[in-house]
Amino acid sequence: MKQKIVVTGGTGYIGSHTVIDLIQQGFEVIILDSLARSEKKSLCQIEAVTGQQPTFYKVDLCHKSKLEAIFETEKNIVGIIHFAAYKYVDESVKEPLLYFENNISSLINILDIVAKHQIPNFVFSSSCSVYGNITSLPVKEDTPLNKAESPYARTKQIGEMIIEDFSKAYPNNKCISLRYFNPVGAHESGLIGESPSVVPNNLVPRITGTAIGIFDELKIFGTDFPTRDGSCIRDYIHVMDIAEAHTAALRMVMQQNEAMPHEIINLGSGNGVSVKEAVAAFEKVSGKTLKVAYAPPREGDVISIYSDCSKSKSKLNWTAKRNIEDMMRTAWIWEQNRQKK
Ligand code: UD1
Repeated sequence: MKQKIVVTGGTGYIGSHTVIDLIQQGFEVIILDSLARSEKKSLCQIEAVTGQQPTFYKVDLCHKSKLEAIFETEKNIVGIIHFAAYKYVDESVKEPLLYFENNISSLINILDIVAKHQIPNFVFSSSCSVYGNITSLPVKEDTPLNKAESPYARTKQIGEMIIEDFSKAYPNNKCISLRYFNPVGAHESGLIGESPSVVPNNLVPRITGTAIGIFDELKIFGTDFPTRDGSCIRDYIHVMDIAEAHTAALRMVMQQNEAMPHEIINLGSGNGVSVKEAVAAFEKVSGKTLKVAYAPPREGDVISIYSDCSKSKSKLNWTAKRNIEDMMRTAWIWEQNRQKK
C-alpha cells in the first residue's frame, strides 16, 4: 500500500512541483489548499505530468474546525509537508497582519492536527529570509539569525520557533524545517510552472513576464549595493531540485525510528547570482533583450545571501543539479506555454 502524505499549499508553485515528485516516487498525495494564491487547474497539470490526480480539499487552514473534519475522514497519514503560506516580502511590509494571521495561525492549526492525530513526520517550508542581513557568507544553519527584514521573514522565524518548542513537547512527531533560498524555474515538461493568481513580484516571473510583454520593463531594485555589480545577490535554485529535496527530507525523517529534535536544513545551490547576472542568463537562453530600468531598493530586501550546502548533502544526500540557465530556460518555456493557453 502507498504511504499517504498530506501536502498543504499543494496547488501552489513549490507545492505542486513537490506533489509531482512525491507521486513519481510512489507516495499517495492529499492536497489541502485554500486556492487563495493558486488555481485549481494545477491539479490537472499535475495529472498531465504524472498520470494521477491527487485527492484535493479546498480548505483555509486558519479554519480549524474544517481542518479537523478532513483529518477525521483521512486516516493513516504518515507525513505532512506544510507549504501553505503567503510569500511576498513587499506585500508583507504593507500588510503585516495579513501575514501574521495567515502564516502563523495555519501553522498552529496544522501542528495541533499533527499532535492530536499522532502524525509522525512533519516538514515545514521555511526560508533563508530568516537569516536577515548576514555579512559572513555562505550562511550555515547554525549562523545566528539576524533581525528579520520583513514581516514575511518574521513569520518564518516565528514558525521555526514554534516548531522548536513543539518538537520538545512532542518529540515523537519528528519535525524538519527547510530554509529555501530562491526557488525559480519550471518543470522540464513545460506542462506546469509558477501560476500566481496575483500579479507576481518575484524576479523570474517579472523577467519572463517582461519578455512576453505583460510588463513594460523590468525594474532592478537597487544598483548601489556593496556587491560585485551593485545589484542584490541571491541563491537561485530550480524548483524541481527543491521538490526532490522535500521528498529526500521526508524520507530522512521517516527513516528515523526514534524521537528526533527539530532539524533545520538549508536548501540552496551554494551559488550567489546578482540580479543583473540573472537577467543576463535569461537573455542568453531566450535570445531576447529585456527592457530594464533601475529603481530604488525594495523595502524588506536583504542585500546578499547564498547557502552553505554541506548539511543538505550530508543529511539528505541531496545537492542541486540544475544551473541558472536551466532555471531560466524552463521558466521561459513555461511562460510561453502559459500564454498560449
Ligand atoms: C524572498 C526570500 C525567499 C522566498 C521568497 C518568496 C530572501 C533573501 N529570500 O525572496 O527565500 O522564497 O522571498 O517570495 O528574503 N527584484 C528586482 N526586480 C523585480 C523583482 C525582484 O530587482 O521586479 C530583485 C529583488 O530586489 C531581489 C531579487 O530580485 O534582490 C529576488 O527577489 P524575489 O524573486 O522577489 O525574491 P526574494 O524577495 O529575494
